[in-house]
Amino acid sequence: MGKQFGSRATADEVLKDFDFTGKNAIITGANSGIGFESAKALAKVGAHVILACRSASKANEAIDKIRAEVPNASLEFMALDLASFPSIEKFTKALKIDQVDLFIQNAGIITDAYNTTPQGHEMTAGVNHFGHFYLTKLLMPLLLKGKARVVVLSSESHRQTLGLNLKKWPQSEKDFGFNSSYAKSKLANVLFATELQRRYGAQGLTVASCHPGNMVTTNFGEGTALTKVLFKLISPFTKTPAQGASTSMYCASQPDSFVAGNYFSGNEKTTPSFLARNKKLAVELWDYSESEVAKYLKQRK
Ligand SMILES: NC(=O)c1ccc[n+]([C@@H]2O[C@H](COP(=O)([O-])OP(=O)(O)OC[C@H]3O[C@@H](n4cnc5c(N)ncnc54)[C@H](OP(=O)(O)O)[C@@H]3O)[C@@H](O)[C@H]2O)c1
Repeated sequence: MGKQFGSRATADEVLKDFDFTGKNAIITGANSGIGFESAKALAKVGAHVILACRSASKANEAIDKIRAEVPNASLEFMALDLASFPSIEKFTKALKIDQVDLFIQNAGIITDAYNTTPQGHEMTAGVNHFGHFYLTKLLMPLLLKGKARVVVLSSESHRQTLGLNLKKWPQSEKDFGFNSSYAKSKLANVLFATELQRRYGAQGLTVASCHPGNMVTTNFGEGTALTKVLFKLISPFTKTPAQGASTSMYCASQPDSFVAGNYFSGNEKTTPSFLARNKKLAVELWDYSESEVAKYLKQRK
């Protein structure tokens, strides 16, 4: 049984009794919003935090802000663009740590502009799922060495799709809808987390997925015309980014057996959608993602 916190607890409150000294944490998209608050909270409890971000200037600004509050913070920026498989390879090759203890798959986008990654995946699917899938694959030796905790930021939006037809996903321009693309990517996040737990749990990985809160005030709403308006209107009533970061920090800190393979929302274990619990779909998504990586590797030769 995990410790009890209210859904409006902050990341600091959730981590208050923990010491992460000597632990290496990688957080994708740590320069803003929930990822930034997670980096700050983990630095406060002694973790060495690698901010895996696509913009050096934004990441360095984030580091300066954290150091102003946590002078002894152990922080490192490393360049990572999750849309680009070569960037993911460069990131993993440049890592200087010998094990990963905590891997927070936080970066995520929603966008109403249809775009594709260099690998040919629609951008939302590419960044939110395929980038993290490939990164996990390349990090696996270091994750296994650290018997790592892996936390995947999904969303309650994962419930807003009727299916994940892998023959039609990632979406083509003709089929693209920002909401459905986002929902499918977030469903993929939960399926990926449970399948990662199933495949690597016996080797020491502990994996959870989570929802940080509804319309948490971050840069996230900037992605589409509709969310820009909605986030501004609702912002005074929703969680702060520090509160939004609490559930991923909860997943990062509670006992292995409580966290393993589960989905959390509001600092509580929660049942994800019927589709997200479909074990066959989780296996199919994994195999499909592997085949997309294999296709890329073949083309690269
Ligand atoms: N805010 C909410 O209400 C909410 C609700 C449910 C779920 N979530 C999930 O929570 C997570 C964090 O979101 P947030 O609200 O903190 O949003 P945010 O402030 O927009 O932060 C997203 C982070 O992802 C990074 N990112 C985007 N594309 C990337 C790429 N190609 N490579 C590497 N990093 C990239 C961004 O970098 P740049 O600054 O360079 O763009 C930024 O650091 C996301 O997975 C989101 O789906 C958020």
